[in-house]
Amino acid sequence: MTTPLKLGIIGAGRMGITHFSIANALDGVSVASVADPSKLITTMLGKYAKVGTYKDYKGLLKGEELDGVLVCTPPAFNPEILDAVLERRLHVFCEKPFVLNAADGARFASAYDQAGLVNQVGYVNRWNDMFTHTRQLVEDGLIGAPLRFRSEMFSPTIIRDVGDAGWRASHANGGGAVFEMASHAIDLIAYFFGAPDRVGGTSLSKVYSKQVEDIVSTSLFYDSGLAGTMYVNWSDASFRKPTNKFEVFGSEGKLQVDQHGAKIHLKEANEKHGLKEGWNQLYITDVHSSVPFYVRGIEYTAQLADFVASIREGKPVRCTFADAAANLRVIEQLFADDAAIRRAGAAA
Ligand SMILES: NC(=O)c1ccc[n+]([C@@H]2O[C@H](COP(=O)([O-])OP(=O)(O)OC[C@H]3O[C@@H](n4cnc5c(N)ncnc54)[C@H](O)[C@@H]3O)[C@@H](O)[C@H]2O)c1
Repeated sequence: MTTPLKLGIIGAGRMGITHFSIANALDGVSVASVADPSKLITTMLGKYAKVGTYKDYKGLLKGEELDGVLVCTPPAFNPEILDAVLERRLHVFCEKPFVLNAADGARFASAYDQAGLVNQVGYVNRWNDMFTHTRQLVEDGLIGAPLRFRSEMFSPTIIRDVGDAGWRASHANGGGAVFEMASHAIDLIAYFFGAPDRVGGTSLSKVYSKQVEDIVSTSLFYDSGLAGTMYVNWSDASFRKPTNKFEVFGSEGKLQVDQHGAKIHLKEANEKHGLKEGWNQLYITDVHSSVPFYVRGIEYTAQLADFVASIREGKPVRCTFADAAANLRVIEQLFADDAAIRRAGAAA
Protein backbone atom coordinates (compact mmCIF):
# COMPACT_ATOMS: atom_id res chain seq x y z
CA MET A 1 0.00 0.00 0.00
CA THR A 2 1.54 3.34 -1.06
CA THR A 3 1.47 6.36 1.27
CA PRO A 4 -1.61 8.50 0.57
CA LEU A 5 -0.99 11.59 -1.49
CA LYS A 6 -1.65 14.65 0.66
CA LEU A 7 -3.47 17.52 -1.00
CA GLY A 8 -4.48 20.96 0.27
CA ILE A 9 -7.33 23.03 -1.14
CA ILE A 10 -7.12 26.82 -1.43
CA GLY A 11 -10.56 28.43 -1.86
CA ALA A 12 -13.58 26.39 -0.80
CA GLY A 13 -16.48 27.94 -2.68
CA ARG A 14 -18.49 26.14 -5.32
CA MET A 15 -15.50 24.53 -7.08
CA GLY A 16 -13.33 24.04 -4.00
CA ILE A 17 -16.10 22.03 -2.33
CA THR A 18 -16.75 20.02 -5.51
CA HIS A 19 -13.05 19.15 -5.74
CA PHE A 20 -12.86 18.43 -2.02
CA SER A 21 -15.60 15.82 -2.28
CA ILE A 22 -13.94 14.19 -5.31
CA ALA A 23 -10.29 14.32 -4.19
CA ASN A 24 -11.05 13.05 -0.72
CA ALA A 25 -12.88 10.03 -2.14
CA LEU A 26 -10.15 9.02 -4.61
CA ASP A 27 -8.12 5.94 -3.68
CA GLY A 28 -4.77 6.79 -2.12
CA VAL A 29 -5.54 10.48 -1.66
CA SER A 30 -6.33 12.46 1.43
CA VAL A 31 -7.22 16.13 1.66
CA ALA A 32 -5.09 17.34 4.54
CA SER A 33 -6.57 20.80 4.94
CA VAL A 34 -8.58 23.57 3.32
CA ALA A 35 -7.91 27.33 3.35
CA ASP A 36 -10.67 29.90 2.93
CA PRO A 37 -11.15 33.33 4.54
CA SER A 38 -14.88 32.68 5.06
CA LYS A 39 -15.51 31.69 8.68
CA LEU A 40 -18.84 30.17 7.74
CA ILE A 41 -17.15 27.82 5.22
CA THR A 42 -14.24 26.78 7.45
CA THR A 43 -16.56 26.22 10.44
CA MET A 44 -18.90 24.01 8.37
CA LEU A 45 -16.03 22.06 6.79
CA GLY A 46 -14.33 21.52 10.15
CA LYS A 47 -17.57 20.43 11.83
CA TYR A 48 -19.18 18.25 9.16
CA ALA A 49 -16.30 17.13 6.91
CA LYS A 50 -13.82 16.82 9.80
CA VAL A 51 -11.03 18.39 7.76
CA GLY A 52 -8.39 20.80 9.04
CA THR A 53 -8.95 24.43 8.06
CA TYR A 54 -6.97 27.64 7.75
CA LYS A 55 -8.24 31.13 7.21
CA ASP A 56 -5.54 31.85 4.65
CA TYR A 57 -3.41 29.91 2.22
CA LYS A 58 -0.12 31.03 3.78
CA GLY A 59 -1.05 29.21 6.99
CA LEU A 60 -1.93 26.08 5.02
CA LEU A 61 1.32 26.11 3.02
CA LYS A 62 3.33 26.63 6.19
CA GLY A 63 1.44 24.29 8.49
CA GLU A 64 1.01 21.16 6.34
CA GLU A 65 3.31 18.63 4.67
CA LEU A 66 1.68 18.44 1.24
CA ASP A 67 2.32 16.83 -2.16
CA GLY A 68 0.06 19.17 -4.10
CA VAL A 69 -2.66 21.80 -3.93
CA LEU A 70 -5.93 22.52 -5.71
CA VAL A 71 -6.29 26.28 -6.26
CA CYS A 72 -9.99 27.21 -6.49
CA THR A 73 -9.93 30.92 -5.64
CA PRO A 74 -11.28 33.78 -7.77
CA PRO A 75 -8.55 34.11 -10.43
CA ALA A 76 -7.27 37.57 -9.42
CA PHE A 77 -5.81 35.96 -6.26
CA ASN A 78 -4.01 33.23 -8.19
CA PRO A 79 -0.68 34.92 -9.10
CA GLU A 80 0.34 35.47 -5.47
CA ILE A 81 -0.94 32.02 -4.49
CA LEU A 82 0.89 30.32 -7.38
CA ASP A 83 4.12 32.13 -6.46
CA ALA A 84 3.83 30.84 -2.89
CA VAL A 85 2.98 27.29 -4.05
CA LEU A 86 5.98 27.32 -6.39
CA GLU A 87 8.23 28.41 -3.53
CA ARG A 88 7.04 25.31 -1.61
CA ARG A 89 7.70 23.14 -4.70
CA LEU A 90 4.19 21.62 -4.78
CA HIS A 91 2.29 20.14 -7.71
CA VAL A 92 -0.77 22.19 -8.59
CA PHE A 93 -4.21 21.87 -10.12
CA CYS A 94 -5.62 25.36 -10.73
CA GLU A 95 -9.15 26.22 -11.76
CA LYS A 96 -9.59 28.00 -15.10
CA PRO A 97 -8.92 30.61 -16.41
CA PHE A 98 -5.88 30.22 -14.06
CA VAL A 99 -4.57 33.82 -14.23
CA LEU A 100 -5.82 36.94 -16.00
CA ASN A 101 -3.19 37.74 -18.62
CA ALA A 102 -1.02 35.79 -21.03
CA ALA A 103 2.27 37.15 -19.67
CA ASP A 104 1.54 35.80 -16.16
CA GLY A 105 0.33 32.58 -17.76
CA ALA A 106 3.58 32.09 -19.69
CA ARG A 107 5.68 32.99 -16.64
CA PHE A 108 3.99 30.37 -14.45
CA ALA A 109 4.00 27.77 -17.24
CA SER A 110 7.76 27.96 -17.64
CA ALA A 111 8.51 28.30 -13.90
CA TYR A 112 6.46 25.19 -12.96
CA ASP A 113 7.83 23.20 -15.91
CA GLN A 114 11.39 24.12 -15.02
CA ALA A 115 10.76 23.08 -11.41
CA GLY A 116 9.47 19.69 -12.67
CA LEU A 117 6.07 20.25 -11.04
CA VAL A 118 2.79 18.92 -12.42
CA ASN A 119 0.68 21.91 -13.51
CA GLN A 120 -2.90 21.32 -14.64
CA VAL A 121 -5.82 23.67 -15.35
CA GLY A 122 -9.49 22.81 -14.87
CA TYR A 123 -10.76 23.12 -18.45
CA VAL A 124 -12.95 20.17 -17.67
CA ASN A 125 -14.41 19.64 -21.16
CA ARG A 126 -11.11 17.96 -22.07
CA TRP A 127 -12.22 15.11 -19.77
CA ASN A 128 -15.77 14.85 -21.13
CA ASP A 129 -16.05 11.60 -23.11
CA MET A 130 -18.24 13.10 -25.86
CA PHE A 131 -15.64 15.76 -26.58
CA THR A 132 -12.63 13.44 -26.31
CA HIS A 133 -14.32 10.83 -28.53
CA THR A 134 -15.43 13.24 -31.26
CA ARG A 135 -12.07 15.02 -31.21
CA GLN A 136 -10.45 11.66 -31.95
CA LEU A 137 -12.94 11.06 -34.80
CA VAL A 138 -12.04 14.41 -36.34
CA GLU A 139 -8.34 13.64 -35.94
CA ASP A 140 -8.91 10.25 -37.62
CA GLY A 141 -10.32 12.10 -40.64
CA LEU A 142 -13.91 10.87 -40.22
CA ILE A 143 -15.41 14.10 -41.57
CA GLY A 144 -12.50 14.87 -43.91
CA ALA A 145 -10.68 18.18 -43.72
CA PRO A 146 -12.26 20.50 -41.12
CA LEU A 147 -13.36 23.71 -42.85
CA ARG A 148 -15.57 25.59 -40.39
CA PHE A 149 -16.47 25.26 -36.70
CA ARG A 150 -18.84 26.86 -34.23
CA SER A 151 -18.21 26.88 -30.48
CA GLU A 152 -21.07 27.97 -28.22
CA MET A 153 -21.63 28.13 -24.49
CA PHE A 154 -24.81 29.01 -22.60
CA SER A 155 -25.55 29.32 -18.90
CA PRO A 156 -28.00 30.99 -16.51
CA THR A 157 -25.17 32.55 -14.44
CA ILE A 158 -26.38 36.18 -14.49
CA ILE A 159 -30.12 36.31 -15.15
CA ARG A 160 -30.97 39.44 -13.18
CA ASP A 161 -29.30 42.64 -12.11
CA VAL A 162 -27.10 41.56 -9.19
CA GLY A 163 -25.33 44.93 -8.93
CA ASP A 164 -21.58 45.05 -8.48
CA ALA A 165 -21.44 42.50 -5.67
CA GLY A 166 -19.14 39.49 -6.00
CA TRP A 167 -15.97 38.86 -7.96
CA ARG A 168 -17.84 37.90 -11.16
CA ALA A 169 -18.88 41.57 -11.62
CA SER A 170 -15.44 42.95 -12.54
CA HIS A 171 -12.67 42.06 -15.00
CA ALA A 172 -10.04 43.00 -12.41
CA ASN A 173 -11.26 40.09 -10.27
CA GLY A 174 -11.62 37.69 -13.20
CA GLY A 175 -15.34 38.21 -13.73
CA GLY A 176 -17.33 38.70 -16.94
CA ALA A 177 -18.51 36.20 -19.52
CA VAL A 178 -15.15 36.20 -21.37
CA PHE A 179 -13.02 34.98 -18.45
CA GLU A 180 -15.73 32.82 -16.89
CA MET A 181 -17.50 31.17 -19.85
CA ALA A 182 -15.87 32.05 -23.18
CA SER A 183 -12.60 30.69 -21.80
CA HIS A 184 -14.25 27.22 -21.86
CA ALA A 185 -15.52 27.73 -25.44
CA ILE A 186 -12.05 28.92 -26.55
CA ASP A 187 -10.42 25.96 -24.82
CA LEU A 188 -12.68 23.53 -26.67
CA ILE A 189 -11.62 25.08 -29.98
CA ALA A 190 -7.96 24.82 -28.91
CA TYR A 191 -8.50 21.20 -27.78
CA PHE A 192 -9.75 20.26 -31.26
CA PHE A 193 -7.55 22.46 -33.46
CA GLY A 194 -4.87 24.25 -31.40
CA ALA A 195 -4.90 27.97 -30.70
CA PRO A 196 -6.31 30.17 -33.48
CA ASP A 197 -3.97 32.68 -35.11
CA ARG A 198 -6.29 35.72 -34.88
CA VAL A 199 -9.81 36.90 -34.13
CA GLY A 200 -12.10 39.43 -35.79
CA GLY A 201 -15.56 40.95 -35.61
CA THR A 202 -15.69 40.65 -31.81
CA SER A 203 -18.72 42.02 -30.00
CA LEU A 204 -18.99 42.03 -26.20
CA SER A 205 -22.36 43.20 -24.89
CA LYS A 206 -24.21 43.63 -21.62
CA VAL A 207 -27.61 42.29 -20.60
CA TYR A 208 -27.67 42.80 -16.81
CA SER A 209 -24.05 43.46 -15.78
CA LYS A 210 -22.82 47.01 -15.34
CA GLN A 211 -19.06 46.61 -15.73
CA VAL A 212 -18.58 43.36 -17.64
CA GLU A 213 -19.97 41.64 -20.73
CA ASP A 214 -22.77 39.06 -20.58
CA ILE A 215 -22.67 38.05 -24.27
CA VAL A 216 -19.59 37.37 -26.38
CA SER A 217 -19.44 36.77 -30.11
CA THR A 218 -16.44 36.61 -32.42
CA SER A 219 -14.82 34.91 -35.41
CA LEU A 220 -11.56 32.98 -35.15
CA PHE A 221 -9.08 32.33 -37.96
CA TYR A 222 -6.15 29.98 -38.61
CA ASP A 223 -3.38 30.61 -41.15
CA SER A 224 -4.29 27.18 -42.61
CA GLY A 225 -7.66 28.57 -43.80
CA LEU A 226 -9.71 26.92 -41.05
CA ALA A 227 -12.12 29.44 -39.49
CA GLY A 228 -15.04 29.46 -37.09
CA THR A 229 -17.28 31.47 -34.84
CA MET A 230 -17.91 31.59 -31.11
CA TYR A 231 -21.08 32.68 -29.31
CA VAL A 232 -21.30 32.69 -25.51
CA ASN A 233 -24.17 33.92 -23.35
CA TRP A 234 -24.14 33.60 -19.54
CA SER A 235 -27.52 35.36 -19.20
CA ASP A 236 -29.58 32.72 -20.94
CA ALA A 237 -32.29 31.46 -18.57
CA SER A 238 -33.40 28.85 -21.10
CA PHE A 239 -30.42 26.70 -19.99
CA ARG A 240 -30.47 25.10 -16.54
CA LYS A 241 -26.75 24.26 -16.45
CA PRO A 242 -23.65 25.50 -18.27
CA THR A 243 -23.75 23.86 -21.72
CA ASN A 244 -21.10 23.73 -24.44
CA LYS A 245 -22.07 23.02 -28.03
CA PHE A 246 -19.50 22.40 -30.72
CA GLU A 247 -20.01 21.94 -34.46
CA VAL A 248 -17.46 21.07 -37.13
CA PHE A 249 -18.20 21.08 -40.84
CA GLY A 250 -15.70 19.08 -42.89
CA SER A 251 -15.16 18.07 -46.51
CA GLU A 252 -16.69 14.60 -45.86
CA GLY A 253 -19.28 15.29 -43.19
CA LYS A 254 -20.38 17.28 -40.20
CA LEU A 255 -20.53 16.77 -36.45
CA GLN A 256 -22.53 18.46 -33.72
CA VAL A 257 -21.57 17.61 -30.14
CA ASP A 258 -22.38 18.68 -26.60
CA GLN A 259 -21.59 17.16 -23.18
CA HIS A 260 -24.31 14.51 -23.57
CA GLY A 261 -24.34 13.37 -27.19
CA ALA A 262 -23.29 13.88 -30.79
CA LYS A 263 -24.96 13.90 -34.19
CA ILE A 264 -22.73 13.01 -37.11
CA HIS A 265 -23.66 13.36 -40.81
CA LEU A 266 -21.43 11.45 -43.24
CA LYS A 267 -21.20 11.52 -47.02
CA GLU A 268 -20.16 7.84 -46.91
CA ALA A 269 -20.49 5.05 -44.33
CA ASN A 270 -17.46 4.44 -42.12
CA GLU A 271 -17.03 0.78 -41.23
CA LYS A 272 -14.18 1.25 -38.76
CA HIS A 273 -16.33 3.41 -36.51
CA GLY A 274 -19.60 1.60 -37.31
CA LEU A 275 -21.22 4.76 -38.69
CA LYS A 276 -23.58 4.87 -41.64
CA GLU A 277 -24.03 7.26 -44.54
CA GLY A 278 -26.25 10.19 -43.51
CA TRP A 279 -27.16 10.95 -39.89
CA ASN A 280 -25.78 8.98 -36.90
CA GLN A 281 -26.58 9.59 -33.23
CA LEU A 282 -24.13 8.89 -30.39
CA TYR A 283 -24.98 9.18 -26.70
CA ILE A 284 -22.58 9.66 -23.79
CA THR A 285 -23.59 6.18 -22.63
CA ASP A 286 -22.14 4.77 -25.90
CA VAL A 287 -18.67 6.18 -25.28
CA HIS A 288 -18.24 6.84 -21.56
CA SER A 289 -15.07 5.77 -19.79
CA SER A 290 -15.04 4.39 -16.31
CA VAL A 291 -14.54 6.41 -13.13
CA PRO A 292 -14.96 5.07 -9.60
CA PHE A 293 -17.82 7.48 -8.80
CA TYR A 294 -19.87 10.29 -10.32
CA VAL A 295 -19.87 13.80 -8.87
CA ARG A 296 -21.28 16.55 -11.09
CA GLY A 297 -20.29 14.62 -14.24
CA ILE A 298 -17.70 11.91 -14.97
CA GLU A 299 -15.30 14.55 -16.24
CA TYR A 300 -14.79 16.21 -12.84
CA THR A 301 -13.70 12.91 -11.29
CA ALA A 302 -11.57 11.98 -14.32
CA GLN A 303 -9.62 15.25 -14.32
CA LEU A 304 -8.62 14.92 -10.65
CA ALA A 305 -7.81 11.22 -11.06
CA ASP A 306 -5.48 12.30 -13.90
CA PHE A 307 -3.89 14.98 -11.70
CA VAL A 308 -3.10 12.29 -9.13
CA ALA A 309 -1.80 9.91 -11.85
CA SER A 310 0.43 12.68 -13.20
CA ILE A 311 1.96 13.18 -9.75
CA ARG A 312 2.29 9.47 -8.98
CA GLU A 313 3.10 7.94 -12.36
CA GLY A 314 4.13 10.87 -14.56
CA LYS A 315 1.00 10.57 -16.73
CA PRO A 316 1.11 13.39 -19.35
CA VAL A 317 -1.03 16.37 -18.35
CA ARG A 318 -3.99 16.94 -20.65
CA CYS A 319 -4.38 20.66 -19.93
CA THR A 320 -1.21 22.42 -18.76
CA PHE A 321 -0.49 25.98 -17.67
CA ALA A 322 0.95 26.48 -21.18
CA ASP A 323 -2.40 25.42 -22.75
CA ALA A 324 -4.28 27.84 -20.49
CA ALA A 325 -1.78 30.62 -21.27
CA ALA A 326 -2.51 30.13 -24.99
CA ASN A 327 -6.23 30.62 -24.22
CA LEU A 328 -5.36 33.84 -22.39
CA ARG A 329 -3.64 35.11 -25.53
CA VAL A 330 -6.93 34.60 -27.42
CA ILE A 331 -8.84 36.34 -24.60
CA GLU A 332 -6.53 39.35 -24.89
CA GLN A 333 -7.17 39.44 -28.64
CA LEU A 334 -10.94 39.43 -28.00
CA PHE A 335 -10.79 42.42 -25.64
CA ALA A 336 -8.49 44.32 -28.03
CA ASP A 337 -10.66 43.55 -31.09
CA ASP A 338 -13.88 44.61 -29.34
CA ALA A 339 -12.22 47.88 -28.19
CA ALA A 340 -10.87 48.60 -31.70
CA ILE A 341 -14.29 48.01 -33.28
CA ARG A 342 -15.94 50.32 -30.72
CA ARG A 343 -13.32 53.04 -31.35
CA ALA A 344 -13.83 52.76 -35.11
CA GLY A 345 -17.60 53.00 -34.60
CA ALA A 346 -17.25 56.09 -32.41
CA ALA A 347 -14.92 57.78 -34.92
CA ALA A 348 -17.18 57.11 -37.93
N1 LIG B 1 -14.34 24.22 -14.29
C1 LIG B 1 -15.56 24.59 -14.01
O1 LIG B 1 -16.51 23.96 -14.43
C2 LIG B 1 -15.79 25.79 -13.13
C3 LIG B 1 -17.07 26.11 -12.69
C4 LIG B 1 -17.24 27.22 -11.84
C5 LIG B 1 -16.13 27.99 -11.49
N2 LIG B 1 -14.89 27.67 -11.97
C6 LIG B 1 -13.71 28.46 -11.62
O2 LIG B 1 -13.35 28.16 -10.27
C7 LIG B 1 -12.82 29.32 -9.63
C8 LIG B 1 -13.63 29.59 -8.36
O3 LIG B 1 -14.99 29.73 -8.72
P1 LIG B 1 -16.16 29.40 -7.67
O4 LIG B 1 -17.42 29.35 -8.48
O5 LIG B 1 -15.80 28.25 -6.82
O6 LIG B 1 -16.14 30.75 -6.81
P2 LIG B 1 -16.75 30.98 -5.36
O7 LIG B 1 -16.93 32.45 -5.24
O8 LIG B 1 -17.91 30.06 -5.15
O9 LIG B 1 -15.58 30.48 -4.39
C9 LIG B 1 -14.36 31.15 -4.24
C10 LIG B 1 -13.87 30.88 -2.82
O10 LIG B 1 -12.55 31.40 -2.68
C11 LIG B 1 -12.45 31.97 -1.38
N3 LIG B 1 -11.31 32.90 -1.38
C12 LIG B 1 -11.27 34.18 -1.79
N4 LIG B 1 -10.02 34.66 -1.61
C13 LIG B 1 -9.27 33.67 -1.08
C14 LIG B 1 -7.90 33.56 -0.69
N5 LIG B 1 -7.04 34.57 -0.83
N6 LIG B 1 -7.47 32.37 -0.18
C15 LIG B 1 -8.31 31.34 -0.05
N7 LIG B 1 -9.62 31.39 -0.41
C16 LIG B 1 -10.09 32.54 -0.93
C17 LIG B 1 -13.80 32.62 -1.15
O11 LIG B 1 -14.05 32.85 0.23
C18 LIG B 1 -14.74 31.56 -1.73
O12 LIG B 1 -15.14 30.62 -0.77
C19 LIG B 1 -12.91 30.45 -10.67
O13 LIG B 1 -11.66 30.60 -11.29
C20 LIG B 1 -13.94 29.96 -11.66
O14 LIG B 1 -13.74 30.46 -12.97
C21 LIG B 1 -14.70 26.58 -12.76
